[in-house]
Amino acid sequence: MLEALWERRALLVSGKGGVGKTTLAAALAVAAARSGRTVLLAELAPEEEGPSPLARRVGAREAGPRVTRVRPGLHFVRLSAAEGHRRFLERALPARWLADAALRTRALRRFLEAGPALREMGLMYQMLALLRLTRPDGRFVHPLAVVDLPATGHALALAALPQRVLSLMPGGPIGRDVREGLDFLQDPARTAVVLTSLPEPLPVSEALTVAAELRRLELPLSVAVLNRMPEDPFTPESRAALRRLLAAHGPHQGSHALARIERARAASARLSRALRAPLLTLPELPVTGPALVDALAAGFAPRAEEALPREALP
Ligand SMILES: Nc1ncnc2c1ncn2[C@@H]1O[C@H](COP(=O)(O)OP(=O)(O)OP(=O)(O)O)[C@@H](O)[C@H]1O
Ligand SMILES: [Mg+2]
Repeated sequence: MLEALWERRALLVSGKGGVGKTTLAAALAVAAARSGRTVLLAELAPEEEGPSPLARRVGAREAGPRVTRVRPGLHFVRLSAAEGHRRFLERALPARWLADAALRTRALRRFLEAGPALREMGLMYQMLALLRLTRPDGRFVHPLAVVDLPATGHALALAALPQRVLSLMPGGPIGRDVREGLDFLQDPARTAVVLTSLPEPLPVSEALTVAAELRRLELPLSVAVLNRMPEDPFTPESRAALRRLLAAHGPHQGSHALARIERARAASARLSRALRAPLLTLPELPVTGPALVDALAAGFAPRAEEALPREALP
């Protein structure tokens, strides 16, 4: 399932608040880099200032609009609306210095920063500009990007945005770029939305709402992830026996654990029934931060050297 994901150009990790988007985005990028790919881990945050939880998860020292190298194969960027605005002014105006000069105009800057739609357009513009970059030999500089999307409506508005912008300016270089960006985001061969949820009833309901919105925007939902699945050591028979035992002996701590496992199983069944996308489950692990990212990444992809056939090793 993951092999198919690595063939895409952009993995957009979405989901409601606190379900594990940042952790999952970091783990996917680390796994891709470990398997020998070149990957750009991008943060699309509601705020562009302050500490970056995503940078911390992978040990990136710098979190800004400039792409920085974290380790071999892994790069990090915090997408910036201002950077995107500069790029689209460059496209719209005949010279770069004009774009810089235009951006220095306080009135224009205030206009671009005022509307959330224009901010999102700037963020998307920078992301697509990075994905378009090529080397002199024609290969992409960033063949694969993993994007940590915010929990709020921003992420989805981002996709609705090109349609709105297109209706305002269908022609010209910006209109063309936006159309190209929309084609990119809606193309299942290039973009994969990774919808993340927790294995509990309310988060699953929320994930299904997001899935419906993705369908409306024609964004390709490629995989649903149920994160923090509790370990289930039981067979159906032992589970039934345990349930009888707990029922006979009244409330017990074990009842909570068993109930949680059963809710998780129900959540998984409900998600697979409702979505046409494959479902991936990730375990609840007793670690946090970079250690959690590494452990989840190890589950996704063996290290490149481990993946090589034995005779290929020195
Ligand atoms: N598989 C897991 N096992 C254990 N803890 C986890 C797991 N996945 C995530 N967590 C923990 O859950 C918390 C939320 O995770 P994370 O920050 O990745 O979520 P998020 O969806 O990015 O949140 P937000 O919407 O606030 O950006 C973190 O404390 C993280 O360590
Ligand atoms: Mg997050």
